Amino acid sequence: MGTIQITNLTFKYDQMSTNLFDSVNLSIDESWKLGLIGRNGRGKTTLLNILRNKLDYSGSIVTNLNFYYYPQNVSNPAKLAGDVALELSGLKDYDIWKVEQELDKLKMDLSVLERPFENLSPGERTKLLLAVMFVDNNGFQLVDEPTNHLDIEGREVVANYLRGKQGFIVISHDRGFLNQIIDHVISINRNTIDVYQGDFDTWEQQKDIRDNSEMAEKAQLKKDIKKMEASAVKKENWANQSERNKNKNIKMDLHTNLDKGFLSHKSAKMMKKASTMQKRANEAVEKKKDLLKDIEIDDPIVLNYVEISHFNQLISAENFQMVNDSVQTPEVSFEVKTGKVTALLGRNGIGKSTIFKRIMDFDQPFEQRGNISIKKGIKVSYMPQETTLHGTIRQVAENSEIDVEQVFSNLRKLGFERELFNDPIEHMSQGQKRKVALSLSLSQEANLYLWDEPFNYLDVITRDQIIAAIKKQHPTMLIIDHDIGLIDTIADEKVMLKE
Ligand SMILES: Nc1ncnc2c1ncn2[C@@H]1O[C@H](COP(=O)(O)OP(=O)(O)OP(=O)(O)O)[C@@H](O)[C@H]1O
Ligand SMILES: [Mg+2]
Repeated sequence: MGTIQITNLTFKYDQMSTNLFDSVNLSIDESWKLGLIGRNGRGKTTLLNILRNKLDYSGSIVTNLNFYYYPQNVSNPAKLAGDVALELSGLKDYDIWKVEQELDKLKMDLSVLERPFENLSPGERTKLLLAVMFVDNNGFQLVDEPTNHLDIEGREVVANYLRGKQGFIVISHDRGFLNQIIDHVISINRNTIDVYQGDFDTWEQQKDIRDNSEMAEKAQLKKDIKKMEASAVKKENWANQSERNKNKNIKMDLHTNLDKGFLSHKSAKMMKKASTMQKRANEAVEKKKDLLKDIEIDDPIVLNYVEISHFNQLISAENFQMVNDSVQTPEVSFEVKTGKVTALLGRNGIGKSTIFKRIMDFDQPFEQRGNISIKKGIKVSYMPQETTLHGTIRQVAENSEIDVEQVFSNLRKLGFERELFNDPIEHMSQGQKRKVALSLSLSQEANLYLWDEPFNYLDVITRDQIIAAIKKQHPTMLIIDHDIGLIDTIADEKVMLKE
C-alpha cells in the first residue's frame, strides 16, 4: 500500500523571518480522502507545492505516489479544450475516451472538448481540469480550492465526483462541501499540524473539545500556580524569620536553653518545602505555556454600518434586465430592504456581477431594460468578486479615505499576520488579499454593502466572524455567494436569477 511519510519537514520562504513549517511529521495513506484546512496564509498551497517537489525544504518526504495538481497551468488557452486535455494528461489521441469518461461522471457535455479552452466558463474549466487529473486512477491528486468558481450545482456535482474517488488531498473552506467528501483532515493549526480521522464537522467537534479542555486546564493551572507561589513565599519567610530569631537569641543570651538544633532542622525543612513548592510552580508555568498554542484568534468584528432608517428600501428593481447582442440577464424584480440581507442567487455566468456593476454605475457594454432605482446619496461599500488591489494596505486605505489603523485592527482580528502589513497586496496569498479587501469594506462607513462572493478564499473562522457580525448588526446588504449553507444562515431574502 502506498503512503506519504513526511519526517522533520522544515520550510520557509526566503523573505520570511520564521519558519512556515517547523519539524513537521505526517503519515498519509494512499487511500485516504483528505481535506487540508487552516487559516489563510498558513501554508496549505505551500504544502502541496512541497509534495510536488516544487520548493526546497529540509527533512524527508518518502513516497512512491504520482502527484497531480489542480489548478494546472494551461500554457495556451486558445487551443481546443480537447487538445489542452491531451497535453496536460500526456495521453495519446486515441485515449481521449479516458478524459470523456471522467467528464461524463462530472455531468459535462462532451462537446466542451471541441471548444477553445479560453471560452469555457470558470466552472467548466474547473471540471475539465479535474477530469484530466483524475484520469490516472493510481495517482494521488492535490486539489487546491476547486470550489471558488463553482456555483451551487457545480459544487454538488464536484462533491459527488470526488466522493467516488480515493487518494487525494482537497483544500476548501466550504464546510458543507468537505463534509460530503472527506474521511480525514489535515489541519494546519497556529503551531502544529495534525491529521484527524473524520470529516470537517468531526474535526471541528474534536478541536472544540480539545480547546475547551486546554482553556479549563489553563485556568486551573493559573490558580494552582498562584497558590503554590504564595505558599512557597510563606514557607520561605517562616524559615528566614526563625533563622533570624535563632541568631538573635544566640547573640542575646549565649546560655539560652532554646533548642537551636530543633529550630535549624525545622527551618531547613521549611526551606526545602518552599523550594519544592517553587519548583512545582515553575513546572506548572512551563506547562501553561504549552497550552492554547493552537487556539485561533476569533475576536468579534464590527461593520462600520450606519443605518438609513427613513427609507424602507435602498434599491428596487422592476422587470430589470441588462442586455447586449450576445448576452442577456434574466428579467428580475427585487428590493433591497433596509436592515435586511438579500442574497442574489443563480448559476455561474447568469449576470449577478453585472447587476452589481450597474448598481455601482460602472461603464458596461450593456443596455438596460426595465427599471432599477437606487437611493441617492447613500454610502455603498462594494467588494468585487476578484481582488485587484495593488500597492500597500496603507496606500489603498488612504486613496479610499479609510482609516488605516481601523483596517489594521480588523486584519488582526481576522488572524492576519502583522508582518505582512507593509507588503504589497499583489504578493499575498488569495485568502490574504481577500482579507485585506474585507477589512477595507468593514472599516469604510457604509449604509449599504454590495458583496460579490465575499467568502471565496476565506478560511472558515473568518467566515464565522463575518456571519456573527451580520447576525448582530443586521446591515443592509446585497450579497452573492454559492456556499448555500452560509447563505441560508445569513440571508433574510433570496432573489433567484433563472432563465
Ligand atoms: N512565493 C512566495 N514567496 C514568499 N512568500 C510566499 C510565497 N508564496 C506564499 N508566500 C507566503 O507564505 C505563506 C503561506 O502561503 P500559502 O499560499 O501557502 O497559504 P495558504 O494556506 O494556501 O493560504 P490561502 O488560504 O490564502 O490560500 C503566506 O504568508 C504567503 O504570503
Ligand atoms: Mg492557498
